[in-house]
Amino acid sequence: MPRSEIHVCFFVWLTFLHVANAFKNQTWPVPYRRFDRRPQVDAYCQALYPFCPTGDQDGRIPNMKDTDVISVYRLQTPVWEFKFGDILGKLHIMHDAVGFSSAQTGANYTMEWYELFQLGNCTFPHLRPDAFAPFWCNQGAACFFDGIDDFHWAQNGTLEKIAEISGNQFNDLAQWVIDDNTTGIYYETWTVLSHAGPNATMWFESYDCSQFVHRTYRKMSQLGAKLSSRSQTNYTKIYLYSGEPVYLGNDSAIFGQPALKNLATDIRDFYNDFRPHQSMAEFALSMLEAYKRVVMDKSFYFYYNFEYWRLPMKAPYVRIQYEEVPLPSN
Ligand SMILES: *[C@@H]1O[C@H](CO)[C@@H](O)[C@H](O)[C@H]1NC(C)=O
Ligand SMILES: *[C@@H]1O[C@H](CO)[C@@H](O)[C@H](O)[C@H]1NC(C)=O
Ligand SMILES: *[C@@H]1O[C@H](CO)[C@@H](O)[C@H](O)[C@H]1NC(C)=O
Ligand SMILES: *[C@@H]1O[C@H](CO)[C@@H](O)[C@H](O)[C@H]1NC(C)=O
Ligand SMILES: *[C@@H]1O[C@H](CO)[C@@H](O)[C@H](O)[C@H]1NC(C)=O
Ligand SMILES: *[C@@H]1O[C@H](CO)[C@@H](O)[C@H](O)[C@H]1NC(C)=O
Ligand SMILES: *[C@@H]1O[C@H](CO)[C@@H](O)[C@H](O)[C@H]1NC(C)=O
Ligand SMILES: *[C@@H]1O[C@H](CO)[C@@H](O)[C@H](O)[C@H]1NC(C)=O
Repeated sequence: MPRSEIHVCFFVWLTFLHVANAFKNQTWPVPYRRFDRRPQVDAYCQALYPFCPTGDQDGRIPNMKDTDVISVYRLQTPVWEFKFGDILGKLHIMHDAVGFSSAQTGANYTMEWYELFQLGNCTFPHLRPDAFAPFWCNQGAACFFDGIDDFHWAQNGTLEKIAEISGNQFNDLAQWVIDDNTTGIYYETWTVLSHAGPNATMWFESYDCSQFVHRTYRKMSQLGAKLSSRSQTNYTKIYLYSGEPVYLGNDSAIFGQPALKNLATDIRDFYNDFRPHQSMAEFALSMLEAYKRVVMDKSFYFYYNFEYWRLPMKAPYVRIQYEEVPLPSN
């Protein structure tokens, strides 16, 4: 088949998907999928920095006495100092966590949620020669460990006490964290909106360190805690802007069917531009190609709940914002 005909077939098929989607009652944002348990990590995924090196091996959280008073801290720091050079810090890409300290024992603890194999691996997959489907190392998880490194958080970021809770409230929160950690297994970098500005429809919500912190605050609030901060509580959001997303299918639906070979190849080509370990020259070429696909052809293949969607992209396409999300109140 000539290339132009392949393209026609492909677009006819995408139009068909659009129509098929209209008959489904899709709720937005698409709910983040929960699992019964966390699967074993594939040995192909290798962390550059080990996940949770000082946490308990079995992810246990100590039990507090109900008579104890536990102080809760909001922790935030720019990402630049660990992991990525200073670009991310300048873009206001922040890492968020929650701290706890016990009045009775004086012990303190840090709790955070992050990628098992670093941010890049959660944002773009690997194209392996031995597998047709792109391969994702996108697990994220909670890490609870002894100590709060005051200097690390306070010097360029935030370390602020925002609440006090009882030992029982802490123990209930700990159980919730363990359940949340078992059922919410993968990291999602992007938030996808219908447009920039107010009243946009959210198509997909991110699932990252700051979302974990918000969930934790909401749970504490439900358990009866009062949270308050003297300053604005801002968080980093990484947005994509698109028209209504079109559902494409999961790995076996797309990459296991000869009939969808064109779509499968197009998805691989798309992610090939974002592959890791490129030389400077390759990277420049890839970014040009990515610009053509995302901005000129207005197309982005998005992965959520281990399924692919096509985003009909819109200006301003991509944006990083550091914006306020107030603490919950009860
Ligand atoms: C979609 O929602 C409408 C109204 O709520 C309902 O009548 C219809 O049966 C639903 N369709 C499907 C496919 O679920
Ligand atoms: C990403 O995954 C690859 C393959 O598993 C691994 O080599 C690498 O260390 C991971 N992290 C980064 C930052 O690339
Ligand atoms: C969350 O899951 C990860 C991955 O299995 C594990 O290493 C970690 O200890 C767990 N965290 C908690 C707080 O249970
Ligand atoms: C946490 O404990 C360490 C060691 O005792 C102490 O230096 C630090 O100030 C404590 N931080 C908070 C926020 O309680
Ligand atoms: C704070 O920022 C300065 C200047 O960018 C940097 O040199 C320093 O390492 C940072 N401190 C911490 C604790 O991250
Ligand atoms: C956003 O929605 C609110 C409430 O429905 C409405 O009052 C407001 O005018 C809308 N703003 C814009 C810019 O559409
Ligand atoms: C993939 O999608 C197909 C059809 O949509 C479904 O039957 C299958 O169970 C899905 N596979 C997985 C692993 O979710
Ligand atoms: C925090 O967010 C608010 C509103 O979202 C914004 O106006 C403000 O500039 C942000 N603060 C910083 C330091 O970026």
